Amino acid sequence: MAKISPSILAADFYNLCESFDMMEEAKADYVHFDVMDGSFVPTITFGAPVLQKLKKRTKIPFDVHLMVVNPEKHFDVFVDAGADIMTFHAEATPHVHRCIQLIKKKGIKAGVVLNPHTPISQIQHVLCDVDIVLLMSVNPGFGGQTLIPEVLEKGKELRRIADEKKLDFEIEIDGGVYPENSETVRASGFDVIVAGSGVFGAKDPIDAMRKIKGE
Ligand code: DX5
Ligand code: ZN
Repeated sequence: MAKISPSILAADFYNLCESFDMMEEAKADYVHFDVMDGSFVPTITFGAPVLQKLKKRTKIPFDVHLMVVNPEKHFDVFVDAGADIMTFHAEATPHVHRCIQLIKKKGIKAGVVLNPHTPISQIQHVLCDVDIVLLMSVNPGFGGQTLIPEVLEKGKELRRIADEKKLDFEIEIDGGVYPENSETVRASGFDVIVAGSGVFGAKDPIDAMRKIKGE
C-alpha cells in the first residue's frame, strides 16, 4: 500500500471544504500544495496565506511542493503557514544541501524534487540527508498531463539505491497518476503518490483515493 497526497490544484476551489471532508474521510496521508511562481514554471498558483487559512481546518499534514526559483527565500513563510513537509526543485537552486539543512532546522521534513530529465546522480550525495525525494512524472506547471513512463524506471533505481544504502527517505511521484495506472506505480517502488485529476476529477474521489493507495 502507498500513501496518498491529493493535489488540491485539481480541486473545486469554490467547494474546498467538501474536498477536505473527502480527504479526511479517505484518510489521505498528506495534502499536496503546488506552489508555482510563473518563473520556474509558466503558471502561478497560490501562496502561503492560502495554506495558513486551511491549516486551521484540517489535521492532514501539508506536503508543500515549491516550484519556484530561489526556493530558500520562501521557506520561512511556508513553514509558518503550516508546512509539514517541504520539497524544492534541485534545478531551482545551486545550493541543494544548504536548502535541505535550512528546512530541517525549522523542524519539518525536507525533500528534493527532480524534473523528469534530471538524473538521480545529481542528488546522490544528499540522499542521506533527505526525508523525501519527489520524482516528477510530468513536466511541472500543469495538472492533468500524461505520466512519463521512464520515471517508473527512475523510481525503481532510487528504491534500489535506498535499499542498498539502507536509507529511509520516502519516494514520492507526482503527475499523471490515476486509479487505472496506480498499481504499476506502486510496483515501481513509490511510497507516496500525488494525484490531482486522478482524485478530484473522479466520479467518486474517495474511492479513487483508496484505489490509488492500493487498499
Ligand atoms: C504539476 C504538479 C502536480 C499536479 C498533479 O506541476 O506538481 O502536483 O498537480 O496533477 P495531476 O495528478 O492532475 O497530474
Ligand atoms: Zn506537485
